[in-house]
Amino acid sequence: MRAIDISIIGATGAVGAELIKLLESSQLPVSRLRLLASRTSVGRRLRFRDEICIVEPLDEIDDTQADIAFFSAGRAVSAKYGPLFAAQGALVIDNSNAFRMNPDVPLLVPQINPNALAARPRSGIVENPNCSAIQLVRALRPLVTAFHVHQIILTTYQAASGGGLKGIDELLEGSRAALAGRAPPRAKHFPFPLAFNVIPQVGEITSEGVTLEERKRLQESRKLLGLPHLRLTSSCVRVPVVNGHPEAVYLELEESVHVVQVRELLTLEPDFRLSVGGPHVGYPTPRHLTDPAIVHVARVKVNPENPYCLWIVADNLKVRRLTHLSS
Ligand SMILES: NC(=O)c1ccc[n+]([C@@H]2O[C@H](COP(=O)([O-])OP(=O)(O)OC[C@H]3O[C@@H](n4cnc5c(N)ncnc54)[C@H](OP(=O)(O)O)[C@@H]3O)[C@@H](O)[C@H]2O)c1
Repeated sequence: MRAIDISIIGATGAVGAELIKLLESSQLPVSRLRLLASRTSVGRRLRFRDEICIVEPLDEIDDTQADIAFFSAGRAVSAKYGPLFAAQGALVIDNSNAFRMNPDVPLLVPQINPNALAARPRSGIVENPNCSAIQLVRALRPLVTAFHVHQIILTTYQAASGGGLKGIDELLEGSRAALAGRAPPRAKHFPFPLAFNVIPQVGEITSEGVTLEERKRLQESRKLLGLPHLRLTSSCVRVPVVNGHPEAVYLELEESVHVVQVRELLTLEPDFRLSVGGPHVGYPTPRHLTDPAIVHVARVKVNPENPYCLWIVADNLKVRRLTHLSS
């Protein structure tokens, strides 16, 4: 395989840092790794394999050439610079939501719809879904394929890291202040101080009362699962956890299915771990994941009236999005 030229836009952020580690641990031959960020980070030195890479300011670069350009610097940056890199021949892999609903841009979860990337998209851009949508569709796919789902209702418990490094810092600073008996610092990144708190809002609230995060969950799940009429309602809640998003999912099926059948289907999924059994078997929590690269499911249970419930947890920064990175 020829060595490839990679740019990471947003290299100094929470997602960018994980991308660098993922590339480092892969077998992928890299001819050049260009690390780009805002002017704030110019000159930062980041290690990649045996080299030190100097972070460059995105808005001062002259050329946007690369074989692959990973974008994790937010929607506005992707919207402006994604097409410029794509026009110069790069395959743009975007982590923001700038193009997720664009019909010319595949929305890809390799374990769910690898064929979406069977041919290079005309737009030159591939979208990565919202982090909590990835783990959700990974658990739902075998169930919506095998059964008729009447509706899905879920609550997400989203960690501070979903708001980037600034979100983590705000939670840690607020926690230190509270433990020292000081007034919490003013919330900048979340609507209220997050330390020792729970906030029923992730993203902006629209005039219909849903948040943009909740709307994304519905739209992205429908697109990824190929079910344009899927009935799915979510409540997204920010919790004072540094990293790792749990989700409590309630599933109403039209037919009656034994819980063992549901569990069997889930055990067949790739990069997925199902914990089954009684109180001693355990279940995943954001701080205790046996493997941060995979999706964990437990507490699969059935109620007498038919609904099925699942507890899904994944590391939102490390969950394996690019299973076949080296192929
Ligand atoms: N956190 C998650 O769990 C998660 C998961 C999936 C997708 N995402 C998405 O990935 C993106 C990044 O998230 P994150 O959590 O990594 O955020 P983050 O920790 O705040 O990092 C943001 C990165 O973008 C860079 N940046 C910001 N404005 C820029 C500009 N005008 N020009 C160039 N670079 C700029 C920052 O550079 P400086 O350091 O120089 O400011 C930093 O490298 C967002 O779109 C987010 O929605 C996040």
